[in-house]
Parts: sequence; structure tokens; C-alpha cells
Amino acid sequence: MSETTNIINRYNRLAPYFDGMEAVLEGLIFSRWRKRLWSKVNGEHILEVGVGTGKNFRWNPADARLTAIDFSPKMLEKARQKRARKELEVHLELMDVERLYFADNSFDTVVATFVFCSVPLPRKGLRELYRVCKPGGQVILLEHVLSSNRILAWFMQLLNPLILRLVGANINRQTIKHVQSCGFSHVNVDSRSGDIIKLIQAIK
Ligand SMILES: C[S@@+](CC[C@H](N)C(=O)[O-])C[C@H]1O[C@@H](n2cnc3c(N)ncnc32)[C@H](O)[C@@H]1O
Repeated sequence: MSETTNIINRYNRLAPYFDGMEAVLEGLIFSRWRKRLWSKVNGEHILEVGVGTGKNFRWNPADARLTAIDFSPKMLEKARQKRARKELEVHLELMDVERLYFADNSFDTVVATFVFCSVPLPRKGLRELYRVCKPGGQVILLEHVLSSNRILAWFMQLLNPLILRLVGANINRQTIKHVQSCGFSHVNVDSRSGDIIKLIQAIK
């Protein structure tokens, strides 16, 4: 079975429990960061990749056109249900971030939250975000990355195979380096970011 199929299957299995599983971290940490991320979003046409169950919907700007994708049918189904409950207008599509169907230079802002920990080929996915982002547009990511503390990083590397197996996420990704290698004119990491959770803003 390919790595992509593995990860899709894992998120399909997790979908019914996903929001409940993350509820405590969401309340304590994540929602504050999501709010910060969305305060930086601008432009007419926004793309969210790896939308999951639609946890970011509550911060979507009312005056923008929103498109969101995910490659797990079950996660996307949860997002569809949330969209219906909240009566939102978000165009949802089943799609792999490594192979986006959108034309070059399509979106003003591209957003992903806690996605590139599980994308099988993260550089390929990030290059796709660069491609579909308009010149002068921005890609904004909220991601957990490998710690800069050597001892903690060693533990994270050790635990990575187990976490990957359980929840389909890698805890040893070096997403900032990957973003920096994609050709953006400017990459900024929010100074309030901690050692592991990073808010990254890249301008094309
Ligand atoms: C940890 S969840 C985060 C979901 C949501 N962004 C959030 O903040 O709650 C990761 C999501 O990314 C999706 N994902 C991972 N790799 C992907 C890929 N290559 N293409 C599209 N979606 C992907 C998974 O299916 C899952 O829904």
C-alpha cells in the first residue's frame, strides 16, 4: 500500500473522533493560533488545503471566496456537515495537495493548519502551494515542527514512527526549511511562535 493510501486510511478512520480528540489542545493552544493566522489572511480568493473537519470555518472572512480541499473523503464529509450546520459558502473538493487541479497564480492567500506534518511528500505539496498562489500573494501555515532542543528533538525522532502509525502525523518535520526552499520572495516566522508550533507566512 502506498504512503498516500496509508495516510488517507488513517484520517478516514480518525474522522468521527477527530474534533473530540483535539478538544483540549484546541481550547488551550490551537484556537488562539488559528485566530492569529486568519487575522493575516487577505484577498478575494482564499484556498485552504487539508481542511480536515473544517475547524477553521469559524474564522473564514465573510467577504472572500473560499475553496478548501482534503484527500480524506471522511474528513471532507465532516467538513461538509459543518458547512451545512453553519450555513457557510465554502467550495469543498477531494484533492491531493501534491497534485492540485488549480491553474497557476489562482489564489490571493493559501492557508494550511497542521497539514504538512502528514503530507507524504511535503516539499512537493509546498511547491504546489507556491504554484497556485498569485505573485504578491501569500501562503500562511500553522505547523508543528521538530524542536530546536537537541534532547527533545532526539525524543521526537524516536517517537515519530509510533505517532505516525497512530495518528498519521510526523512530529519531526522541518517545515520552515522546506518553505524556504520553494522560491518565495520572503518567509517570516511569527515572533510569538514557540519552539514547536510555528506560524509561517511566505510571500510569493
Ligand atoms: C491533522 S489534520 C488537520 C486538519 C485541519 N487543517 C485542522 O487544522 O484541524 C491533517 C489534514 O490534512 C489532510 N491531508 C494530509 N495530507 C494531505 C494531502 N496530501 N492532500 C490533501 N489533504 C491532506 C488530512 O486528510 C487531514 O484532514
